[in-house]
Amino acid sequence: MTACRAYHGIEVTPIAGALGAEIAGVDLGRELSDELVSEIRRAWLDHLVVFFRDQTLSLPEFLAFARRIGRPVEYPFVKGIEGFPEIITVTKLPHETVNFGGIWHSDTVYLDRPPMATMLIAREVPPFGGDTLWSNMYAAYESLSPGMQRLLEGLRAVNSSAMADVSKTREDRIRDSGTAEDATRVYESEHPVVRTHPETGRRALYVNVAHTSRFVDMTEDESRPLLAYLFAHSTRPELTCRFPWREGSLALWDNRCAMHNPINDYHGHTRTMHRITLAGDVPA
Ligand code: SIN
Repeated sequence: MTACRAYHGIEVTPIAGALGAEIAGVDLGRELSDELVSEIRRAWLDHLVVFFRDQTLSLPEFLAFARRIGRPVEYPFVKGIEGFPEIITVTKLPHETVNFGGIWHSDTVYLDRPPMATMLIAREVPPFGGDTLWSNMYAAYESLSPGMQRLLEGLRAVNSSAMADVSKTREDRIRDSGTAEDATRVYESEHPVVRTHPETGRRALYVNVAHTSRFVDMTEDESRPLLAYLFAHSTRPELTCRFPWREGSLALWDNRCAMHNPINDYHGHTRTMHRITLAGDVPA
């Protein structure tokens, strides 16, 4: 995380040592000046994930704010809300036991151009639990030894949409919301294991347990020990933050340098969020 610095028109308070900050003093439902949006963007790039409380955004207002940050894109596996194809509902109902995306990951890295960012707004939260964790992948890379960093520099990895642990976290939502056109397709994409963030120029580790199956030109068996080490290393508690949601909380995170993992500890209760992803570039 960048050392605390001054912002104009917003109050930015870190929530953990590694990443994450709450932004106060903004009503995202109002017309935002370009200066304010650029300060929010600056805080987001500094802290990797930023949070806003008590936002009562309608779907059009949520989409309008997303458009100030980037270009909303459709999610390949779950149909968007009627009239709002770029917004999906992420929910877990009282009778369900699996939560959507409930594994450490960066969003849809199996695409050639994975999304730059994701926005999530909480509509209904359980009486306890349902927090989300994020981890700082700049810090994950920077805390590796110089020898390991050199080894990883030259490597690329295969990322797949079809790995079993993550696929099962989508099944309830695909069944309930109707299958998106592409829902049966398997996506696979190769990306560098260490990517350079196109806006900050910083290096970040770019593998995750949900989607990364192997290193390019190696078998899964050969890749597994080093990948397992990197997955464990990049989710060490001191590299993470944890956010307790309230109704109206909104998170905006940077998929290029952060992973996330929603905690599945609220069986018997409903948790409902709306999600938008914003277009990204080809990782390099
Ligand atoms: C997701 O992976 O987009 C879901 C995150 C969450 O429910 O907190």
